[in-house]
Amino acid sequence: MSATSPTLANLLHEQRRFDPPPELAANAIATASIYEEAARDRLAFWAAQAERLTWATPWEQVLDWSDAPFARWFVGGRLNAAVNCLDRHVAAGYGGKVAFYWEGEPGDTRVITYAELTAMVCQAANALTELGVTAGDRVMIYMPMIPETVVAMLACARIGAVHSVVFGGFSAEALAGRTNDAQARLIITADGGFRRGAAHALKPAVDDACAQCPQVDKVLVVRRTGQDIPWNDGRDIWWHDIVDRQPSTHEAQAFDAEHPLYIMYTSGTTAKPKGILHTTGGYLTGVTATHRMVFDLHEDTDLYWCGADIGWVTGHSYIVYGPLANRATSFMYEGTPDTPAKDRWWQMIEKYRVSILYTAPTTIRTFMKWGEEWPAKHDLSSLRVLGSVGEPINPEAWIWYRTHIGGNRCPIVDTWWQTETGSIMITPLPGVTSTKPGAAMRAFPGITVDVVDNDGNPVPNGSGGYLVITEPWPSMLRGIWGDPQRYIDTYWSRFPGKYFAGDGAKRDEDGDIWLLGRVDDVMNVSGHRISTTEVEHALVSHPKVAEAAVVGTHDPVTGQAIVAFVTVKGSVPADEAQGAAFAAELRAHVAKEIGPIAKPRDILITADLPKTRSGKIMRRLLRDIADHRELGDTTTLLDPGVVQQIAAQLAGSG
Ligand code: WTA
Repeated sequence: MSATSPTLANLLHEQRRFDPPPELAANAIATASIYEEAARDRLAFWAAQAERLTWATPWEQVLDWSDAPFARWFVGGRLNAAVNCLDRHVAAGYGGKVAFYWEGEPGDTRVITYAELTAMVCQAANALTELGVTAGDRVMIYMPMIPETVVAMLACARIGAVHSVVFGGFSAEALAGRTNDAQARLIITADGGFRRGAAHALKPAVDDACAQCPQVDKVLVVRRTGQDIPWNDGRDIWWHDIVDRQPSTHEAQAFDAEHPLYIMYTSGTTAKPKGILHTTGGYLTGVTATHRMVFDLHEDTDLYWCGADIGWVTGHSYIVYGPLANRATSFMYEGTPDTPAKDRWWQMIEKYRVSILYTAPTTIRTFMKWGEEWPAKHDLSSLRVLGSVGEPINPEAWIWYRTHIGGNRCPIVDTWWQTETGSIMITPLPGVTSTKPGAAMRAFPGITVDVVDNDGNPVPNGSGGYLVITEPWPSMLRGIWGDPQRYIDTYWSRFPGKYFAGDGAKRDEDGDIWLLGRVDDVMNVSGHRISTTEVEHALVSHPKVAEAAVVGTHDPVTGQAIVAFVTVKGSVPADEAQGAAFAAELRAHVAKEIGPIAKPRDILITADLPKTRSGKIMRRLLRDIADHRELGDTTTLLDPGVVQQIAAQLAGSG
């Protein structure tokens, strides 16, 4: 835990407490009694949450844990996820209610009601059926932030196909690896999307991926930007050609509560991403309950905005499934926050009167860097609840968020969870919790977490340790796609009988929980999980690289940044210019292998890497070097001249 202690010291600096605003507390969806209710009978609490969904067949048993750690929730129940997000609201008379206000980066807008979204999803479901997609088939989705992405996901869910959304910032290589692992035959994509003021292409990456995925026989392409794209006549189909001519009704079938809903790939501690599997009934129960209570959603008056990308789990649970199942009205934005200017978000919050905002600490810190004058130009008085997710939020960012965005009135909910947990696990409740800047506070009702020491024993208040979840929960992952043993090994073996999250945590003197970051070889860059091994793997696949060691180092904006130490085959770069060119080549190589988000911030070309006698790279030492930028005792291990030279060059090249 030594690597995290500076963070802890920093956290403990901030002593202020912030009580819920009285007016919010008086009308809150979740009140203090919810904790008692859930503690009295956890399964009854979850059953009550599940009853808010519409089931075609009721379940017989809330939880079957007899084959632990493989859980079955709401055993025997049958439902359709898309019907729960759409049709039932239309049937209840809310067809005219807006599901999404959407804004493209160039400023184009769309308003889509629940009735319209239902019709779009029915048409897409009919198109998928025409393409031969049936229940259980996997479908890849590689899209920008446009309404069709939501439509594609729900169309899959409607026919029981399993979607696997790959973030549009990932490379062709990454898409190919995931497509092959999922054995998907269809990829849904778009020509491109708008980012940073320009059309950003997606389709060419799909073409490159398909060259490595012989089983893919159809690519469905949404026209978003209108840019020129390569076209493969036998394989590619325009979305508008096949979807628009379909009937706008579709009879949805109910599926088993444990029917697979989606696979989301995420980085683990090895080079191969894990396909995290979520199923239908428990997942929907978890996301709807948390979305309602954590954000205090009053669905008929709130305007909710989650600023994540749908390509991450946050987008799945808190842009698509949670908000739609709760009949929320959401805002959705395609592009980057500084296009055309650094107040784009605040301008849109003012325009649409957004009342709930959910974003990541890295985004908040970027806004801090840009300056408070940007939000100050706008009327943000519509906001009433602010959320944070993705990494520990430092108290400075928390206070800035509360002050400059929340007008000193909005409660902040710092929500801890993971791709694997499916929904929020540790969080304040805005009408109940007296919050502490930087703390995620306590487990959501019905969730049981603990902080344990090396031997799995709970730590006393005031101490740090490993975060575990002690009982199964409805939205938990059901496994790793195609690798049940890895599921057991990764999550249930470190502390038998408990779910090991991979995060360090501390209980303060009051017993409240503070998250301290990963304790494994997973980095968190701008809230994105990236494995050190995955980046090392990408680096050594470059023909000139002999060995690579990758560590995460502190970064004021992105939380962590990637630093790579590399030894080369043959001669080292002769001078500064050659070294910089080589580092640039390696960064481009990593972007090609994984995606631009995995590009090391710094690449240090060294003569050797520090290793233990058994040949294991001493990452801890490298992390110290990366954090302190001091070579000290390491001069015998590294060629200080080269390191300093390259570090200086990289600082210059950003
Ligand atoms: C980190 C994102 C501290 C944590 C929903 C976790 C957080 C990983 C928080 C999961 C938070 C997420 N405070 N750390 N509020 N939220 N994390 O799978 O390390 O992309 O294990 O899910 O992000 O990242 P993932």
